[in-house]
Amino acid sequence: MRSFLGVVMGIGLAVCMGNEGVGAVNPAGYGQPGGEYDIRIPRVPVGKLAKAKALKPPFESTPEILVEGKEIFLGRGTCFRCHGKEGKGDGGAAKILPIQPRNFTNPRFKKLRTPGELMWVLKNGSLGQTGKVPGTGMLPIVGQYLSEEDGWKVLLYEISLGEEK
Ligand code: HEC
Repeated sequence: MRSFLGVVMGIGLAVCMGNEGVGAVNPAGYGQPGGEYDIRIPRVPVGKLAKAKALKPPFESTPEILVEGKEIFLGRGTCFRCHGKEGKGDGGAAKILPIQPRNFTNPRFKKLRTPGELMWVLKNGSLGQTGKVPGTGMLPIVGQYLSEEDGWKVLLYEISLGEEK
């Protein structure tokens, strides 16, 4: 996992040190001030969207699965470093990223995304709403650092954060 963080930090720094990722596009307009890129725009490329949307988690979001998902989020998945301990997008590493990590507690997140789209991002990473931002920080994680099964668990946990309590 150390190597994963190394990669993440490396990319974050490269982006901060002056390529077009920083400040090139004003991400304001949705979410945290000057923060998240537009949540209404899918992150999956158009040609792949229908297939990604159709993909379903292999298990239900039970309390047991959510406990496991939370453990991954706060543990070996390292999601909290960017997305924050409560999933609000305010983790420590968010400061060095060109755009802010998704705030999973935003109720629109759950409405606008299917679990299958999120799995696509977890496998392929995100290039932001334009599809052209190198090093958003959201790197491919499933297949590299987490199994697909663990990926589903952590995604179901993230989705649950946007539910009304
Ligand atoms: C190095 C920072 C970083 C880490 C670590 C990280 N993320 Fe992200 N994540 C981001 C950023 C930045 C975005 C926003 C990308 C965008 O707007 O396109 C994002 C977006 C996402 C999205 C897409 C939301 C959408 O709108 O479609 C999902 C899903 C996601 N992250 C899940 C995870 C999970 C699960 C983990 C842990 C296994 C994780 N992330 C770890 C930075 C990170």
